[in-house]
Parts: sequence; structure tokens; C-alpha cells
Amino acid sequence: MAPLSLAILVLLGHLMAISEANFHQHFDVTWGHHRAQIKDGGQLLTLSLEKDSGAGFQSKSQYLFGRIDMQIKLVAGNSAGTVTTFYVSPQLSSQGPNHDEIDFEFLGNSSGDPYTLHTNVFSQGKGNREQQFHLWFDPTTAFHTYTILWNSQRIIFLVDNIPIRVFSNLESMGVPFPNKQPMSIHSSLWNADDWATQGGRVKADWTKAPFVASYKNFKAEACIWNPSSASSACSPGAWQTQGLDAAGRNRIRWVQSKYLIYNYCTDRKRFPQGVPVECKQSRFL
Ligand SMILES: *[C@@H]1O[C@H](CO)[C@@H](O)[C@H](O)[C@H]1NC(C)=O
Repeated sequence: MAPLSLAILVLLGHLMAISEANFHQHFDVTWGHHRAQIKDGGQLLTLSLEKDSGAGFQSKSQYLFGRIDMQIKLVAGNSAGTVTTFYVSPQLSSQGPNHDEIDFEFLGNSSGDPYTLHTNVFSQGKGNREQQFHLWFDPTTAFHTYTILWNSQRIIFLVDNIPIRVFSNLESMGVPFPNKQPMSIHSSLWNADDWATQGGRVKADWTKAPFVASYKNFKAEACIWNPSSASSACSPGAWQTQGLDAAGRNRIRWVQSKYLIYNYCTDRKRFPQGVPVECKQSRFL
């Protein structure tokens, strides 16, 4: 190949990679105005939290299934009382009977104490499926990749490409699965010091505000919803059927044995009549 066309290919490859990550192109700031800032020509987005006022953003597109990767660097130092979220839910988020949502929430902590990564899945208005983890690294010193993989068979939560949780499609057993409506990507940073840190005992230290979380390298391999034709166009790939292979099962077992701190499926006090149906299945289908 002639050096010039090679150079053009390399340049094109670069441009495509850049557009994938461009926050201007893919997201709108939905609240908090100046507390959400897109920088470096669209490569970086920061959210900041001041006393009682945070910020958030939302994808311009809606998706019906996809693999969504986001690199996030969480609020450093004393992050007690802060919650950083990254989730998919319908564009006009309402908590009604049809609400679907796939959630990552990062609950801050006092300096030196670990963040809690809270996950949940809502389908057809029903949530109450929390699993919480500590992380095997400090999420405030560098960017790490958090992934929502959502295909027609299952949802996998991944951290740095390591699966931490699977929610399988068990519609055949009467468990609703979020597959009926397109969802947007949402993220926010807000004050939840009434409950987030050690059950609300540790409050935010506003003398340390603003608290800042940073985002980069957003990537979506997904089916993009076209509202006018009510259909979606998919970027084909392994994500569409991805499950756990033997290596994935080993990794999720490692995470769940060492870092899982709460699992609704084992909370018998909360479900005296018996844990939900999906808990009776293998966790890693
Ligand atoms: C904060 O640190 C405490 C003590 O290590 C820990 O029990 C807790 O899970 C951490 N996370 C939150 C959100 O409180």
C-alpha cells in the first residue's frame, strides 16, 4: 500500500476512535450546567458537586441492547456522602410500573476507607436486586473502565473487563427482563449524605467541595434506536451473544468470593417468604 493511503487510513482510524469518545457529540448536560464541563475538545468530561447541587449528563442516542464502556475516575480524598452514578434507563426516566434500569452507583467514603460499588437491575418497575462490592483497586487515582453489557440473553456488569455480576434473562421463569424499550445512558454526581456512606452516619465535608469525578473514552457497541421508524440499527459483534466463558466464570467467582459485600439473593431476613426466583438459578448463566 502506498505510504500516503496508509497515512490516510491511520488518520481515519484516529478520527473514528476520537468520535467514539467525543462527549460533545454523544451527550447532553441535563442538569448542573457549569458543574458539568466537557474539555479537551470533547475527550474529557468532569462533573462537580458543590453543597447540595450536583450535575449530570445523558446520551443523545437511545439504545436497545449494547455494550457501553465508560472510563471513570472517582472523587478523591474524602468523598463521603457523594454518589457517582453510571446507568442506563429510558430517556424520560420515571419510576413507574414499566421502569427498567441497569445501575452502577459509586458510594463515596472517608479518606482511606473503600468506596462501595452498588449495582441494581430494574425490570418492569421492580428493582430490589442490589449487589454491592468493594473494589480491588483505588478508583480515585486513575481511570478504570466500567461496562454495562446488555444483550437479549443477559446483563453483565464488568470492571476493567472483569465480570462482577450477571443477570440472566429468565423470562421463561416469569422474571421480566429489560428488553422492551430503548434506554439512554445517564451519569450524575450528587449529594446523598443522608444514606450513602456507612448508612448516612458519615456526612459530606463541604469545606472540601467541589468534589469532582472525571469521564473519558466512552464507547458504545450497540443497537441505536431510531424513534421515527421505531427500530434499531446494530453494530454487530461478540457483545450480542456474549456470556461467560470458563475464564469469565473463574474471574466472577474470584470477585464474588473476595469483594462482594451485599447480595440481595442471600438476604433471607429481607425476603422471609423466600428469595426471588432469579436467585435460585446459577448466578453465572
Ligand atoms: C466505607 O468504609 C467502611 C469501613 O471500612 C466500610 O464498611 C463501608 O462499606 C465503606 N463504604 C461505604 C459506602 O460506607
